[in-house]
Amino acid sequence: MRIVVCEDPAILAQQAADLVTRFVSGSGSGSGSRALGLATGKTTEDLYRELVSRYQRGKVSFRGVTAFLLDEYIGLKTGDPNNFRSVVCHSFTTHVDIGSDSLSSPNPQASDLCSECVRYERKVRTASIGLQILGIGSNGHVAFNEPGSSFDSVTRVVDLSDQTQADNAHFFPPNQIIPTQAITQGIATILAAEELLLLACGAAKADAIAQTIEGPVTANVPASALQLHPKVTVLLNKEAAKNLNRN
Ligand code: GLP
Repeated sequence: MRIVVCEDPAILAQQAADLVTRFVSGSGSGSGSRALGLATGKTTEDLYRELVSRYQRGKVSFRGVTAFLLDEYIGLKTGDPNNFRSVVCHSFTTHVDIGSDSLSSPNPQASDLCSECVRYERKVRTASIGLQILGIGSNGHVAFNEPGSSFDSVTRVVDLSDQTQADNAHFFPPNQIIPTQAITQGIATILAAEELLLLACGAAKADAIAQTIEGPVTANVPASALQLHPKVTVLLNKEAAKNLNRN
């Protein structure tokens, strides 16, 4: 694991954007996969803003890139602004040269959600993700793999923990019911990506980050599975890094 502690979130976003830019321009050390895994959440917003800015200045192009979402809420209406697909379109893909056809996501409206999970898992595996962007939940979840998730898990329907529902409540208007379920790529799906980029900002992530990086590899901290992956970069701001012993 390569761990970088950044002075502030803006520098973190720039470093993350540098890595994504190298990947999409094919100048990284990878196999040449053009499949980019996208995460949602507040932490990724600065990264997407930076990538859009670079695209508008002609510094990066996503031509030929296919993008894949990690997860999606179940129970929101199509077009609800809080659907992760809507979020990522709004903040990133519609502002760069990634067409709607090149963005894949699980379909929570499918009549048979089990078949939908199988379809999406197959699609992600066939694409073979070259770089997967990740955030982390305050309880150590990655995507929506909550504590207790098997490291063998693949794309499936999951229940969201009370902690996750509480953490994500601020995205929803006060009168809207917060989803309690989601479709998520599994931990095995995520670990199959060639390279992982984990971003974390803020003191609320400090415990989860310390356990992820320095704690035992355990299903109680799903992100600790990243210790098993050969190519991981973790970008942290100081607050998120504050509980690391190596600081
Ligand atoms: C959601 C997503 C995760 C993401 C997490 C962090 O729970 N399913 O993939 O890592 O949010 O979100 P934030 O960056 O808003 O803290």
